[in-house]
Amino acid sequence: MRNDLGLSAGVTAQDDGVPRHVGIIMDGNGRWAAARGFPRLEGHRRGVKALRRTVRAAGELGVKYLTVYSFSSENWRRPPREVADLMMLLKRFIRNDLAELHGNGVRVRIIGSRDELMPDIRNLLIEAEELTRDNTNLTLIVAFNYGSRQEIAMAARRLAEDAAAGLLDPKLIDENLVASRLYTAGAPDPDLIIRTSGEERLSNFLLWQSAYAEFVFLPLHWPDFDGAALEQAISIYRGRQRRFGDVAAHSAPPSAMTGS
Ligand code: FPP
Repeated sequence: MRNDLGLSAGVTAQDDGVPRHVGIIMDGNGRWAAARGFPRLEGHRRGVKALRRTVRAAGELGVKYLTVYSFSSENWRRPPREVADLMMLLKRFIRNDLAELHGNGVRVRIIGSRDELMPDIRNLLIEAEELTRDNTNLTLIVAFNYGSRQEIAMAARRLAEDAAAGLLDPKLIDENLVASRLYTAGAPDPDLIIRTSGEERLSNFLLWQSAYAEFVFLPLHWPDFDGAALEQAISIYRGRQRRFGDVAAHSAPPSAMTGS
């Protein structure tokens, strides 16, 4: 099945061993700051710098999709001051970096619920997506107010609504149709998920999409992440055998994927 971006669903990895799609759980900003006696905001600020370095490095290495977990739907539980700081950093990132991203051929997409966001942020997100929509070097997907369970529930609800309205035969609901209703519709599944700071969990990030991803957990905190760390993670990824349920290794999932 081909989707709206002309990509074959499920076909992800590239033959040169560079993961086509990398997802990153940018963890450890608070611990990085605490270890230096800085406020948490300083850790997040340095986190934005690390993000900038990583986007550049990903483009240079030939990664085509980079998805970063910037604010989860659970992050609203943080103190209001920190939530406000993270909103402010997103705004600044888009305002300050949009021109450079656009100049470097980066297409920006933001995934997650926009309902709870302030109108000024919502407008900035639309502006970033519209300005960069035709760029093809790298797609930067910023997961902001994103939660994977909510995303899957939303997809199920939309399919149920279509079925109830008589627009869709429930018998036609398969993996591709569910994937086409997720925020990530049109992007290939991630090949590699990186989490920094030594934690080893997904925390509601790309649960559906990472069914066959390789996971690399690095001990460094996110503000210390850079191109060398990305290369290290990719080198670990290259050493993995991806079998997609088969006994033999594959560089991309077989088209009719039913394996475990
Ligand atoms: C996790 O560190 C990081 C976050 C919750 C936010 C990630 C945000 C950035 C990298 C900067 C903002 C970027 C944009 C584009 C808005 P943590 O605070 O959970 O660290 P800790 O586990 O050590 O406390």
